Amino acid sequence: MKQVAICPGSFDPITKGHLDIISRTAGLFDKVIVLILKNDTKHYSFSIEERKAFIEKCIKDLPNVSVDTYDGLLADYAAKNDISVIVKGLRAMSDFEYEFQMALTNRKLNKQVETLFLTTSAENMYLSSSMVKQIAGLGGDISDFVPKEILGDILERLQKNN
Ligand code: PNS
Repeated sequence: MKQVAICPGSFDPITKGHLDIISRTAGLFDKVIVLILKNDTKHYSFSIEERKAFIEKCIKDLPNVSVDTYDGLLADYAAKNDISVIVKGLRAMSDFEYEFQMALTNRKLNKQVETLFLTTSAENMYLSSSMVKQIAGLGGDISDFVPKEILGDILERLQKNN
């Protein structure tokens, strides 16, 4: 049986940190689904279609990775698609409490689902989508933070808003 993992998140937009976790997960599982979900605590800068298109550009060299979107619970998506592994990246202790709570909640909602954590690479420890947007919005250089495939798209889009 093929081992499938979900890499869930908001990806607003995908960063080099996300891509690092996705590509390392792709090395561990037969198939990876990058799943764009809704985090009700966040206000998004990019539409779900834009975020999906950005991810598609970044994963074109990873043949066992695909992107999907879902408007409901992560635990329900996993159950409907018979997937039992969720993989998330942990940057620092500050991520831990929130991720721990989500992992426990998802397991409560779906007994089959396990959450595995990968530690981010050291160079991505501090990286977040919201910082990328802030830096780009104020004219800073984000080339170290977002995959080169989408750098132009993101700059164009964020500068259009200014
Ligand atoms: O990148 P993020 O915003 O930290 O990702 C959080 C996300 C989108 C994975 C989380 O909010 C989520 O799973 N949303 C879908 C709705 C859901 O299942 N909520 C209960 C999670 S405990």
